[in-house]
Amino acid sequence: MSITLSSDNSIVHITNGKISYVMEILDNKYLIHRYFGKSIRAWHGSNTLIPFKRSYTIEYPEKNQNIYFDDLTFEYPTPGRGDYRLPALTVAGPSGAAVIDLKFHSWQILDHKPQEKSLPMSYDNKDESETLEVVCLDSISGVKVYLYYTIFKNINIITRHQRIENVGKSIIHIENAQSLSLELPAKQYEFLSLYGCHAKEANINRFPLHQGIQRINSGYGSSSPRHQPFYALLQPGTDESSGEVYGFQLIYSGNFSAAAEMDSFGQIRVQIGINPDEFNWTLSQGESFITPEAVLNYSDEGLNGMSNNFHNFIQNHIIPYSWKNKIRPVLLNSWEAMYYDVNLEKIKKQATLAKELGIELFVLDDGWFRKGNNSHSSMGEWVCNEKKLPGGIQYVSDLIHSIGLKFGQWFEPEAVSPDCSIYIEHPNWILNVPGYEPLKGRHEYLLDLGQNEVQEYLISMLNDYLSDGKIDYIKWDMNRPFTDVYSSALPYERQDETSHRYILGLYRVLDEITSAYPNVLFEGCSSGGCRFDAGMLRYFPQNWTSDNTDACDRVQIQNGFSLIYPPSVMCAHVSITPNHQTGRTTPLDTRYQICKLFNLGYELDLTKCSKEELSYISEQIKRYKEQREWSMTGTFYHGNSPDNNHTSWMTVSKDKTKCHAVIFQKLYNPLSSHAVFPIYGLCKEWDYRDLSTNKIYGGDELTQIGIPIPLIKQDFTVFNLNLIKV
Ligand code: DGJ
Repeated sequence: MSITLSSDNSIVHITNGKISYVMEILDNKYLIHRYFGKSIRAWHGSNTLIPFKRSYTIEYPEKNQNIYFDDLTFEYPTPGRGDYRLPALTVAGPSGAAVIDLKFHSWQILDHKPQEKSLPMSYDNKDESETLEVVCLDSISGVKVYLYYTIFKNINIITRHQRIENVGKSIIHIENAQSLSLELPAKQYEFLSLYGCHAKEANINRFPLHQGIQRINSGYGSSSPRHQPFYALLQPGTDESSGEVYGFQLIYSGNFSAAAEMDSFGQIRVQIGINPDEFNWTLSQGESFITPEAVLNYSDEGLNGMSNNFHNFIQNHIIPYSWKNKIRPVLLNSWEAMYYDVNLEKIKKQATLAKELGIELFVLDDGWFRKGNNSHSSMGEWVCNEKKLPGGIQYVSDLIHSIGLKFGQWFEPEAVSPDCSIYIEHPNWILNVPGYEPLKGRHEYLLDLGQNEVQEYLISMLNDYLSDGKIDYIKWDMNRPFTDVYSSALPYERQDETSHRYILGLYRVLDEITSAYPNVLFEGCSSGGCRFDAGMLRYFPQNWTSDNTDACDRVQIQNGFSLIYPPSVMCAHVSITPNHQTGRTTPLDTRYQICKLFNLGYELDLTKCSKEELSYISEQIKRYKEQREWSMTGTFYHGNSPDNNHTSWMTVSKDKTKCHAVIFQKLYNPLSSHAVFPIYGLCKEWDYRDLSTNKIYGGDELTQIGIPIPLIKQDFTVFNLNLIKV
């Protein structure tokens, strides 16, 4: 790892020997981007810009002559002085005009990675990173920008964020502050992102980039199921194992925007940051604003290279340190078995059976505090309904512990029902525009988490539950998008700060609670995977992937999410058939196989399973436990598939001695060829034994040629392969 400044202090080269990032200060003091990609030994400076003065364009003062701002590769572009592409930073200065002219001021190499307490940021584990701070200044409008670049040892990842400071004498307004703006040279690229909706998240969207702006975003309030705060630009033809990929991700859980603009000359400007559409931030003299951290990922080993970089980064620099590489318990969740209708008898029966099967954690989902058996009331009334559960949560927790399981509890702290006493006492604690009837979502309002009093209330409510040590796990749910975005705590001119302040308030509560209880396992959830992002993963080491537990749909959902998230943070449950979300029937074996490389749980009424099913479930759990230690820390790959009918995944242990591969066949199709599937991640020099057939294969054969799988005369089946080094 090194950050090197040229002898004349005009060029900086950031590298870890795998990737390089280069910036240059021009004579006129503009900071421009020169390179991001596979590492180079050094940037010699001979590779200079060839200025070209285009006709009929803006005339600049002498020093800038022959430079055309509208094709210059600005490092952090601003509008109003002749660059007409997407700006990274838009600030209305003292004049009211959104014109700023940022010039390089200084740079320094920091001996630590700066951590901003208010936002989730990646962390360093003992000297595993280096950071460059670059300061740019517009002294006329009083805008000073600190740009941070962190490079990590052995990962093809650089992170960036900014601090924007008002160093002038008047109030200024930030209209847009992207976390990342990057210039890529004119070439052909494909745009890849993940889109979806509730119960069908993370579908792959891939198309050739064309002239103009291609943008995905969220205005949901949260990062949303619509689009992941992620996209990648690929060299055309890139597949799982080959091709150049640039991946971009935002460590943030609120409204975001992610855009790629191809200008008239084919050059690409890439951005990701807070969505500027619903955003405006007032900065008084001396105040600063911090942007969320963005992640830049470079791979020349196709999509698997990109995924491995993201997985490695999230496992080692994002999820809470206390859960890094820590085994997660196999759980039984009450939701699909009981929904809101929970009672002691059912809980006892399920938990007793669960214990016999080898399950380790019982999760009491929604219903425990509700007056009725639906979502119409009681949200926010965090008191156990003792008519359903005499003795309250303490009793349930003691019962579960006495059975020999850990106890987990569901909360949806951000919402309140209209009948909830907290809302009745504090009607101004919810998001609600004066004069409008606030809209309900799943019969609930959203608390305005930007308000300090609301944060304090939630921290104290959760502390009351957690302080006696009876809860081992919390599922933190959030089930509605934002509407009526207005905060009674903010003045007229600051209303466009409400959504971001909500997310900052949420982060404050999460930070206080999760750091006070580092051994409690928190699982994030938002109607499944509707707020599944790297920001939440900074507090919660795992996330409920989707409310859709149908094995066939789950293959697509898990396939999409695992492009960017490691399987250890994705929870996958075996549920009953016909499936409650899709009505589809899939074999029990398939339901297990598609979960086994992920974080395994069960979500079904065990009392309704036959003896054979129970004995098979117990066998599944036994096998899962044998593999989970190496699987959790192993490397996950997506296999190439010859058609849309098959999906293949594999996990290879860190030392490459073991591999589990799962190949899912959606429908039986006589037209299918005898498909051959490559197995990635093995050592090419070693031989491997297939544990079920005892056949021996070379690692090179398995990767280069692949393994043929039989055409199975059944829909929704799985072919699996367990390999061990000979
Ligand atoms: C939505 C979640 O995704 C489900 O798993 C369940 O917890 C329900 N909410 C409970 O209301």
